[in-house]
Amino acid sequence: MSADAHSSRGEHRENVVVHTYDDIEEFDNHLPNWWLYTLYGAMVFALGYLGHYHVFHSGPSSAESYEQEMAADRAAAAERARGGTVTPEALLTLSRDPATVRQGREVFTQNCVACHAPTGGGGIGPNLTDRFWINGGAPDRVYRSVTEGVPARGMPAWGPQLGARRVQSAVAYLLTLRNTNVAGGKAPQGNEEP
Ligand code: HEC
Repeated sequence: MSADAHSSRGEHRENVVVHTYDDIEEFDNHLPNWWLYTLYGAMVFALGYLGHYHVFHSGPSSAESYEQEMAADRAAAAERARGGTVTPEALLTLSRDPATVRQGREVFTQNCVACHAPTGGGGIGPNLTDRFWINGGAPDRVYRSVTEGVPARGMPAWGPQLGARRVQSAVAYLLTLRNTNVAGGKAPQGNEEP
């Protein structure tokens, strides 16, 4: 490479032949400025991106933002389910919303554990964690059992006392207990359901 083959930065010297081998000429042309600035821009962007998402975690990763969107979606679905009529689907939707289920566990702890045990495994009242149901284990049947109770058999009607919203939450929580068969639960009562 001869000295004059180099062209210094800023100087416009096209088509300076650096090598000729077998009649093939190699030039030393400047990269176009637009290309260089695109490259530098991409490098700066990549550093910023890396810092924001992976080093300082000041932005959510795609997995995190996916989780956030899913949680928001579950909460929105739960809110819609509360507004409409109480259908089995609406109750199942509520049972997938962590906030509703947490609320339901509180309602259960405050009102139900005396007869159904803190685990839901049963005592005076039946085991709510097995596959056996006296009054039906489908979501709408469970909702009716809690709302109207079975006063003649010792289960109070909770609808008037708790209101629809808290009953819905309690049922959402109970639906997460179904078929979990907690240890020390009461022996099955009623009919086996799938
Ligand atoms: C005073 C005791 C008592 C309390 C408190 C009580 N239950 Fe019950 N529960 C019972 C009894 C007894 C039964 C069984 C009724 C029957 O034989 O049909 C029952 C039945 C049920 C059933 C139907 C179970 C089945 O097998 O069909 C559900 C659901 C239920 N209770 C939920 C609740 C919830 C939720 C609460 C609190 C909000 C609650 N219970 C509070 C005594 C109680």
